[in-house]
Amino acid sequence: DGQFSEKLRVPEALTFDDVLLRPRESRVEPDEADLTTNVSKNVELNVPVLSAAMDTVTESDLAIAMAREGGLGVLHRNTDTDEAVAEVQRVKRADELVIRREDVVTANPEQTIDEVDAMMERAGVSGAPVVNDDDEVLGIISGTDIRPYLEVGDEDTVEEAMTDEVITASEDLEARDALELMYEHKIERVPIVDAEDRLVGLVTMQGVLARREHEDAARDADGHLRVGAAVGPFEIERAEALDDAGVDVLFIDCAHAHNLNVIDSAREIKESVDADVVVGNIGTREAAEDVVDFADGVKVGIGPGSICTTRVVSGAGMPQITAVAEVADVAVQHDVPVIADGGIRYSGDAAKAFAAGADAVMLGSYFAGTDEAPGRVITMNGKKYKQYRGMGSVGAMQSGGGDRYLKEEPEDEEYVPEGVEAATPYKGSLASELHQMTGGIQSGMGYVGASTIPEMKSRSRLVRVSAAGQTEGHPHDVMITDEAPNYSPSE
Ligand code: XMP
Repeated sequence: DGQFSEKLRVPEALTFDDVLLRPRESRVEPDEADLTTNVSKNVELNVPVLSAAMDTVTESDLAIAMAREGGLGVLHRNTDTDEAVAEVQRVKRADELVIRREDVVTANPEQTIDEVDAMMERAGVSGAPVVNDDDEVLGIISGTDIRPYLEVGDEDTVEEAMTDEVITASEDLEARDALELMYEHKIERVPIVDAEDRLVGLVTMQGVLARREHEDAARDADGHLRVGAAVGPFEIERAEALDDAGVDVLFIDCAHAHNLNVIDSAREIKESVDADVVVGNIGTREAAEDVVDFADGVKVGIGPGSICTTRVVSGAGMPQITAVAEVADVAVQHDVPVIADGGIRYSGDAAKAFAAGADAVMLGSYFAGTDEAPGRVITMNGKKYKQYRGMGSVGAMQSGGGDRYLKEEPEDEEYVPEGVEAATPYKGSLASELHQMTGGIQSGMGYVGASTIPEMKSRSRLVRVSAAGQTEGHPHDVMITDEAPNYSPSE
């Protein structure tokens, strides 16, 4: 054989539709299957799902919703550094027990009732501490206090209407004590004051209850929601700024992280931050070998994404199940978690990704149609959609991140894109979408007899599926009459 014919003796590479989990004896009830996983060396999640760092998927709203449900949102990087820092802070502050002074809406005693009413309406709060010029707490004003005055419509001031017997607490207040205090005194908010009675924060009933509602939420050691953020392969300053803002995991965001300049830079970023650093994307065992010595996690996916055209445009790529397995073979020996990124349409695809060695999955199109994703709902032919575009599409590259594809911004704006701009069906709340995803993964664990994600990785076996087998696996020979919450043929 010659040099080139030799090359045609190619190994086979498989993707989601090529395989199925082989059912095994099991005592695992799906509801009880434990989804806890590590997304990177130091960050554990109760739900092994991440949202993609894309400008039509993850901004702070979606990241907050993800973390409350136990997963992790990865903020996209089509923002300048200041905005990115603000985004991280929004997530970090979302479920804080104590709202910090700078975020507390306050009234002053000389304000008129009308003014304070308008102010509270604008700020979306139902009450406010009243402070003097020295920030000393004089009282609390709430909707209930001002309602009688509004009826009369005279020019009374806050000072007359406010409740001036205020229950305050000091900064070391615990959630449980805050609730007790509020029940005991039948109040909704407790100003937090320093030794001189100056306002330093506020605890609200709403805030305490919201925290209790999300028991599985992804939280850091201080109780703040966890958040990830993407940085360009060479953006060391941005990485440091996000690290200072408290980001939990930085994702080196590159379409081909086996570029050795990218690896050099990623190593440098890792040296200069406290946050975990996940390196990606890669898709081969050779790439894994070049990053496992320093990466806190690796992300796998060369062209599987729903909006990707990388494989068509460049001719390069790796079918995702094989890519995950190759990388995981190496990563598992170094205890480096593996994230399968792209191409997951159904929960069954995620279940297969774990069997191939993934510790967590990242989803783009799956979440792009939810309420919490950026952008508004559009209606076409009577159906509702939201915009979803590849970060390598012309539109997204014009808004920022072309270097993900290791390309300079062209002077004539003639990009060579590796993604498309599209619409995806509108889906409602993130929580219910994620519930379908995790429920499906737990079903898969039940069929395999795996009670944890690590067991899913080690216990599962795969079978190869023919084209006929694939057809058999989808609804067939029927006309679907009612939409299922987790299956749509057009997906
Ligand atoms: P899904 O299938 O979940 O994939 O929508 C999301 C992942 O796709 C990657 N991505 C891209 N890949 N061109 C690509 O080749 C693009 O324009 C592009 N944009 C995003 C990314 O890894 C994401 O998490």
